[in-house]
Amino acid sequence: MIVTGAVDVPGDKSLTHRALYLAAVAPGVSVIARPLTSLDARSTARILRRLGVEIGALRPGQAVRIKGRAWRKPEGVLDCGNSGTTARLGLGLLAARPIAVTLSGDRSLRRRPMRRVTEPLSLMGAQFTMGRSDGLPLTIRGGRLQSLIWELPVSSAQLKGALLFAGVAGGVEVRVREPAGRSRDHTERMLRGFGYTVTDEPGGWIGFRPDGRITPFEMTIPGDISSAAFLAGAATLAEGGELRISGVGVNPTRAGFLEVLRRMGGRVSLDRREECLGEPVADLVIHASSLVATRVGPREIPGLIDEIPMLAVLASRAQGTTVFEEVGELRVKESDRLALIAANLRALGVVAESAADTLRVTGTDRPPQGRVVTEGDHRIAMAFAVLAVVKGARVRVDDMSCVAVSFPGFAETLRRITRRA
Ligand code: S3P
Repeated sequence: MIVTGAVDVPGDKSLTHRALYLAAVAPGVSVIARPLTSLDARSTARILRRLGVEIGALRPGQAVRIKGRAWRKPEGVLDCGNSGTTARLGLGLLAARPIAVTLSGDRSLRRRPMRRVTEPLSLMGAQFTMGRSDGLPLTIRGGRLQSLIWELPVSSAQLKGALLFAGVAGGVEVRVREPAGRSRDHTERMLRGFGYTVTDEPGGWIGFRPDGRITPFEMTIPGDISSAAFLAGAATLAEGGELRISGVGVNPTRAGFLEVLRRMGGRVSLDRREECLGEPVADLVIHASSLVATRVGPREIPGLIDEIPMLAVLASRAQGTTVFEEVGELRVKESDRLALIAANLRALGVVAESAADTLRVTGTDRPPQGRVVTEGDHRIAMAFAVLAVVKGARVRVDDMSCVAVSFPGFAETLRRITRRA
């Protein structure tokens, strides 16, 4: 197949969640243009409405208007759906509100770890009622917070973002340390935009001082590089063509995928670079190419954590064995991605194994054929669906409906840019 043309991708998921949350606490009307309107973004909007915030409908192609206010106690349980970012960032802001709020989510979200957030928020002064498991549902009762110095067990932007949000909501200093490389720094950039001092210090420490103020704002959300990665993967594996993906956020703490793709021999360049409210944005231009294996080391992982399914699928078409080191965090994403990637690659005739926290994939040039199980994980579905562009491929993905979590219209977009060679 040839993958060719020009497309754009839905708005960035991480930025949409953060913009919705900050607008929801800004006293007045904020406007977010080009927000993501997927199920995950709707989960954040839905729980904010239940907390008394006025938010317009999230519709593709439309800006959304948010009237922030002091959150009020909701009736019943707030459903975060499939969205870990909704739950974890929400806990950060709720930590300073003296109301009891119960959060839950779908089966996948309920099995994801929450103590990594509740433990430091408890030290700051929030109270939690949790079941015996580490996950949702849980009830938070916020209160007066105190400052925090905390070493995160994993480099995680959801966790770091939750603690910085607690610093904002509680008006207290926060210092956190990320152990293995910087996770995406959208929260830091946005808070600096509101006048807060947020510093990068030696040893992975990040310092926050409550010297800014969240006021109503207008913001345009760039395209999501994590969604673009699937289309870039398709263009790379195709037999020819040139694909342009316009207006993609290329924040260096998110763009590790591009670096690894280049190292593997991928042909991707950035065009029409600009800066959009503190976030770098560019068009991605991708050409088909043959690939070689690489090693993806621990410090690179936070910068491409959501792109590992796509990179593993690319590795299955590369010459040699690609190794992803210290990717244990993938076991607690929307599915156990580590196990699922390896099992699905094997089902397609590829040599792949996940042992402890390492993933190894040996490339082949035999056409991929077989059935892929997604377990409802959007990124597994999209990464494997991309293999359809490979000559001779016969890949059936058991459930494509889950892509609505982050990339509604993915299948149509892929079809639109794909032609027979
Ligand atoms: C996100 C951070 C990442 C990522 C998720 C979105 C965010 O999770 O997997 O899709 O917006 O902060 P971790 O920070 O927990 O790795």
